[in-house]
Amino acid sequence: MLSAERNAFMTKVGPGQPMGGLFRHFWLPLTLSEQLAEPDGDPVRLRLLGEDLVAFRDSNGQIGVVGAFCPHRRAPLYFGRNEECGLRCVYHGWKFDTAGQCVDMPSEPPESDFKERIRVTAYPVREFGETVWIYLGPGEPPELPQMEWATVPPSHRRVAMWLVECNWLQVLEGNVDTAHVSFLHSASDGIPGVREEGLEDRAPQLQVIDNDIGFAYGGRRKRRVDDQFYWRVTQFLLPMYTLIPGPSWPRACVGVVPIDDGHTIRFQVAYNPEAPIERAPPFTARAMGEFRLPDGASIDFWLPTEHRGNTYGLDRQVQRTRNYSGIQGIETQDRAMTEGMGPTCDRSQEHLGTSDLAVIAARRVLERRARELQQGTPPRASRLADRFGVRPLDVVAPDANLGDVLARHAAEVRMAATHSG
Ligand code: FES
Ligand SMILES: [Fe+2]
Repeated sequence: MLSAERNAFMTKVGPGQPMGGLFRHFWLPLTLSEQLAEPDGDPVRLRLLGEDLVAFRDSNGQIGVVGAFCPHRRAPLYFGRNEECGLRCVYHGWKFDTAGQCVDMPSEPPESDFKERIRVTAYPVREFGETVWIYLGPGEPPELPQMEWATVPPSHRRVAMWLVECNWLQVLEGNVDTAHVSFLHSASDGIPGVREEGLEDRAPQLQVIDNDIGFAYGGRRKRRVDDQFYWRVTQFLLPMYTLIPGPSWPRACVGVVPIDDGHTIRFQVAYNPEAPIERAPPFTARAMGEFRLPDGASIDFWLPTEHRGNTYGLDRQVQRTRNYSGIQGIETQDRAMTEGMGPTCDRSQEHLGTSDLAVIAARRVLERRARELQQGTPPRASRLADRFGVRPLDVVAPDANLGDVLARHAAEVRMAATHSG
C-alpha cells in the first residue's frame, strides 16, 4: 500500500517531478524509426514525460526532435514545412534545424542577426535497433544502453509500440508480476511462452536479487514430476525495462515509456540472437492515428484496435470455454487490467501479497534512485551501458535459491557479479 503522497511521488513524471527527473537521466525510446521513414516526410506530434514535441527527419536523413511550439509567437511547429534541412514554421516562416537553431528568419530584415540568438528546444536523438531514442536529461548524454535486442540484425528482431491509456507505473508493475501469467494469460491449451509447470503451481515463490542496473527476480514453481524447480527469471533494467523469460527464443523485452501521467508507450520487442524471426504477426492489432489527449493536444501514434471502448473484445463464451479472460492476445489482456485500474492506480486501496514481491522491489529501487537524485546523486545505472546486455532465464534446476540458479547459469544470463540488497 502507498499513501496518496507516495503514490504521487512514484507516478508523476512531468517537468520538476522527482520521478520524471530520474527518467530524464536515461535514454528513452521515443518512437520507431518507421514513423519517420522518409527524409523531408511529415512531421509527427509526440509527448514524452509531459513535454510536447515535434519530430521530423530532415533532407539528410537526420532526425530532429524539438519543442512543439515556435519560439516566435508559439505557433504549433507540427504544421511546419519540412524542407531543405529544417522545419519551417508556417506562421511567419522561421526555420529551425535538427539542433534547434533558427537558420532562417524571412520576416526580419536581411541584415538582422536576430536569428542567431533564437533556438527552439531540441534534444539529443539517436537511432539504434530501429528505434528513435531521446535524451531529455541534463549534461552530456550517456552511451546508449546496449540491450541485446538492439544489437542483433533487423531480421532477428521485431519491434512495436502502441498507446496505453493509463499511468506508466501500473503497466510496469504488470511486467514484474510473474504470478498473473498463470491466470490472466492462461488458456485451456496452456500459457503461451510458459512451460506446463506454470499451470501446475500457480503460487510461485518469488526471490529478488538487486544489481547495479536494476534487479533480477525469479519465480520458483514446484514440479509434479521430480524434486526440481521451474524457475522463470525476469531481468528488470532501470528505469522501466523487463526482459521476459521463455523456454526458447525468441524472447521479449518490454519497455514502459511515460507519455505523461495518464498515458504510456508500451514498447515491445521480440528477438532471437541466434536466428531470424517472423516479422509478423503484430503483437497487438493497432493502427497509426491521431490521439486527442484530454488537455486538447494531439499525438500521432499506434492505437490499439481493441480498447476500453469495445471492452477489449471480451467474449464471455470464450471465457467460459477456452481461455481464462475471454480476451484475445496477451498484450490486450494486460491492457484491459492496467487501463481498467483508472488513469493512475489508487495504491492506498491495494493489498499486496507474497506474489507481489517484485512489484515491491521495482517500487523500492525506483523510489530510492529518485530520492537520491533529489539529494544530488544521479543514477549510476544510466552510465553502465554495457551492463544492459543481460538475458532472462527459463530453466528447470535443483536450486532452491535464486542466487544459486544465477550462479549455475551465469554464462547464459550474461550478468556481472550481483550483490544482494
Ligand atoms: S510563430 Fe512561428 S514564425 Fe511566427
Ligand atoms: Fe501480462
